[in-house]
Amino acid sequence: FPSALSSLLMWNREVILFSFHNDTRWGYLHPINETNLSQATNGSHIHQVVMDSSLNMLVKMENNMLFFCKVGMERLVRMHPWTEPGVPAALYLNPEEQFIMISLEEGRVQAQSYPVRSESRSTTRGDPDSCPFITFTHSMSKLTYYIDKGNCLELWADVVYPENKGVNVQLLSNRKQLLMIKERTYFESVYGVDKKNKVMVTFNQYISELAQQYDGDKFVQNVDANFIVWDKFGRKDYSFNATMHQVACLCEAQTWKKMLAGGSPLEKAWGPENYRSCFVLGSGKLGNLNQPYEVMNRSSMNYLTFPSVENTTYVFNVKILDPNYSFCDLQAVFAVQTYGEKIW
Ligand SMILES: *[C@@H]1O[C@H](CO)[C@@H](O)[C@H](O)[C@H]1NC(C)=O
Ligand SMILES: *[C@@H]1O[C@H](CO)[C@@H](O)[C@H](O)[C@H]1NC(C)=O
Ligand SMILES: *[C@@H]1O[C@H](CO)[C@@H](O)[C@H](O)[C@H]1NC(C)=O
Ligand SMILES: *[C@@H]1O[C@H](CO)[C@@H](O)[C@H](O)[C@H]1NC(C)=O
Repeated sequence: FPSALSSLLMWNREVILFSFHNDTRWGYLHPINETNLSQATNGSHIHQVVMDSSLNMLVKMENNMLFFCKVGMERLVRMHPWTEPGVPAALYLNPEEQFIMISLEEGRVQAQSYPVRSESRSTTRGDPDSCPFITFTHSMSKLTYYIDKGNCLELWADVVYPENKGVNVQLLSNRKQLLMIKERTYFESVYGVDKKNKVMVTFNQYISELAQQYDGDKFVQNVDANFIVWDKFGRKDYSFNATMHQVACLCEAQTWKKMLAGGSPLEKAWGPENYRSCFVLGSGKLGNLNQPYEVMNRSSMNYLTFPSVENTTYVFNVKILDPNYSFCDLQAVFAVQTYGEKIW
């Protein structure tokens, strides 16, 4: 199931085993105040374990007794009886994420939605063990967030709980070494009720102010990053109109000719993995800055110039060069049709 840190749940007819938070918490799930499920259900066996994307989990026993927990809890709460023992029944989750109990009663199939929220609330009301907080609200609207280089994500969570219960909000994230997280907690205490508000700003280590980007046909954002182009069919009869000197290079910039000298194919020869900017002073010599500058971006004065002798179609591949722009290999293909003058 989805989680920031790897988790595992497995079961057979007798027991449910869990391993949470990268195997730092593990054991058997057992009902509150009982040693095992079999003992709590007059020797019945596990029939089904069903969960929804909000991580509500129901355990249905063969004798139709039901247990509930939120994935991450280590104990199961016994629910009020819902279907008579002995009636053939099964639970399933419909596409709207509702639990449905289907049963065969007097030769007729019945499907009833099982209101997991209200049932679990009614069973756990008044149980001091069951819920350490009064309300818990947060700004996460998705189960999983993916953040690319340069992206920033702000989240908040608000928890209200009886005074001195010491409830905390914890942010769990995967591949932490790639993230920078700033957290701030605001605390308030009024009439025996404590409130903690935590704001978490998560961003990628690679902060770039860089913003050609499409997902399929959908526009995502403008790309300010540096990119290179090459003709898919190897045409070379176009040129760049700015020289390295004109764009203010501090040393000789990389060129297709140099990058291809090693013999690698066009697709692999030049990319974020071996890009070197010409705007940082190299230790080597200055080189020849009167060569065409072959790196482009949205804001530069470097343009492609095509011969005007005949009509031609160019099919270009484009690839982002900046290594700090994205974890993805960003490439696209576009075509240019030129209209030449007919020379008689
Ligand atoms: C568990 O046992 C304790 C102590 O005997 C009792 O106070 C509590 O109500 C029990 N909880 C449930 C859910 O049976
Ligand atoms: C990419 O980001 C790293 C870490 O912030 C930085 O050290 C490096 O100079 C950056 N590279 C470029 C080409 O901007
Ligand atoms: C390249 O051509 C474009 C379009 O004509 C022009 O705006 C730009 O100034 C030229 N760049 C240089 C370095 O001459
Ligand atoms: C775009 O290219 C120009 C040179 O043509 C360079 O000065 C500028 O820094 C580049 N922009 C980015 C975002 O790298």
